[in-house]
Amino acid sequence: MRKMLFLVTAWLLSAGVFAQQNGELWMDVDGKHINAHGGNVIKYGDKYYWYGENRPYRGFTTEAGVGVYSSTDLQHWKDEGIALAVSEEPGHDIERGCIMERPKVLYNAKTGKFVMLFHLELKGRGYEAARVAFAISDSPTGPFRFIRSTRVNANVWPFDYTKKQVEAAKQTDASKWKKWWTPEWMAETQKGMYLWSDMAGGQMSRDMTVYVDDDGKAYHITSSQENLTLLVSELTDDYLDFTGKYNMVAPGGQNEAPCIFKHGGKYWLICSGCTGWEPNEARMFRGESIWGPWTQLPSPFEGEGGYRDFSAKKTFGAQGTYIFRKNEEAGSPYIFMADIWNPRHLSESLHLWLPIGFKTDGTPVIRWQPAVPY
Ligand code: DGJ
Repeated sequence: MRKMLFLVTAWLLSAGVFAQQNGELWMDVDGKHINAHGGNVIKYGDKYYWYGENRPYRGFTTEAGVGVYSSTDLQHWKDEGIALAVSEEPGHDIERGCIMERPKVLYNAKTGKFVMLFHLELKGRGYEAARVAFAISDSPTGPFRFIRSTRVNANVWPFDYTKKQVEAAKQTDASKWKKWWTPEWMAETQKGMYLWSDMAGGQMSRDMTVYVDDDGKAYHITSSQENLTLLVSELTDDYLDFTGKYNMVAPGGQNEAPCIFKHGGKYWLICSGCTGWEPNEARMFRGESIWGPWTQLPSPFEGEGGYRDFSAKKTFGAQGTYIFRKNEEAGSPYIFMADIWNPRHLSESLHLWLPIGFKTDGTPVIRWQPAVPY
């Protein structure tokens, strides 16, 4: 009987019955929807590892932890279980019932360790903690050991802030501004009002990604200052801390879900707006270096199609989480990896992977296609 089941499963797999389509449930090799959201994919050895939020069918808090799946072809995914489990200890930073979002794992060739960074919210405190957390493992499938969670860059000014900018920021007072989005409020925000109000306690860190540049240096890119401003922060060589060098991108721009890649000598940052679980129009920035200057460009999403009736204007119904390539050396297309959130049943949020094309001037463009590009 078991042999029969195995043969049938093997036949279904080879026939591509489990192959994923954008906007549909994506089954793992056991026929269960892949419960890994807001995450990333890395290659290690001859396998790919997909990390993501393991979400419950009902509710918004983390009950299990960060999940991991493995695959040799990006199509057939094996559930490897929970890579970083919640803690059962009351009061622990990652106590069951906390919120773990947007986990990203990197392999550190210098230390031989797998390092996970993720957005952490403490149990029972909504989204006010706004921390980044670190975990480490010897193996890609875990178990990851939680290290610590923290706000970022406490008592450090952005490295490119001039004395004049520091003085101007120190004159601001966030407690005075109850009403957002007035021109005066925006001017204060761009002067560094929230940077200053969080200077002592550390800058907020919510939606986040990580990026390793060609020279091996790694960066944490996060939605900070009440989700109004992105911070790019350099990580230490072991990826377990911040060096203290950071700067701000698009103050007051309200960008979430940062995803980044480098192509044609430029850095391309693709983000979403800030509308909770609802899709919105993506934004794109071109950076001359990881530290900018950044130029905002129109959304890279174009053309017909999308999930249900969500058009390119709504990122086809999705929100980005990571950009990766199947095979860097072979020049495989960059894949924009995104979530189609289902807030009623977060575990059933769908996945959307689309290839990134380029216009003749080298600008990225992302068009809808039902088939997933492997
Ligand atoms: C949008 C973020 O991108 C998600 O990761 C999540 O935090 C939701 N907001 C919660 O509303």
